[in-house]
Amino acid sequence: MNEPSDTEETAKTLARYNRLAPLYDLIEVLPERSLARWRRELWALIGAGRVLEVGVGTGKNFPYHSPELDVAGIDLSDQMLQRARQKARTLGRTIDLSLMDAQQLDFPDNSFDAAAATFVFCSVPDPVQGMRELGRVVKPGGQIVLLEHVRIDRPAIIGKLMDLLDPLVVRVMGAHINRRTAANVRRAGLEVERVENLAPLGLVKLIVARPVTPV
Ligand SMILES: C[S@@+](CC[C@H](N)C(=O)[O-])C[C@H]1O[C@@H](n2cnc3c(N)ncnc32)[C@H](O)[C@@H]1O
Repeated sequence: MNEPSDTEETAKTLARYNRLAPLYDLIEVLPERSLARWRRELWALIGAGRVLEVGVGTGKNFPYHSPELDVAGIDLSDQMLQRARQKARTLGRTIDLSLMDAQQLDFPDNSFDAAAATFVFCSVPDPVQGMRELGRVVKPGGQIVLLEHVRIDRPAIIGKLMDLLDPLVVRVMGAHINRRTAANVRRAGLEVERVENLAPLGLVKLIVARPVTPV
């Protein structure tokens, strides 16, 4: 199993999300109107089987999980996870929730038919390592589906502005706004099947990938 590449950054991420947890659902009330549509689109791609949801947060995806799924969910933040547990109870869903770091998953190889994450790899300190872990725990041929806001590369000025603002945003909101997530998926050695632009200028992308099948 991999070691987390930056324990100091991971501790900072944990502290940020523990601090944000009581406010998270409130902050997201307005954006959630668009997000709900995209969440539905993502979960419609995962029909059945054992699925890992990485970075469940407060459990905003739970209403969109198909009842056919056997879902395990993880999060780095105990405060976010506590709210996810409450959400699962309210919805009457059985979801196996654990405190865990995406960069160092405590699951054997090939444990899942699919994995999903929404707005998570913007905050994982080493996203490439986290994605490598997904490639390890998802069975060959299984789907890895991500919904992520990313750096806008064109027009270039917006990307530069995002780079400038990123240190402030990450401190306040815990998320980097200038990640090139589709490129990171490739760097992690996953096979990118589809990248769909959901928001103007490609700000939000749906990325469908698979672990590379051994030959
Ligand atoms: C912006 S929130 C998104 C939560 C949820 N997926 C959603 O769509 O509302 C990011 C989540 O990723 C979690 N996270 C960040 N780094 C992580 C890591 N290394 N391992 C597991 N979870 C992580 C945070 O604790 C937080 O709950």
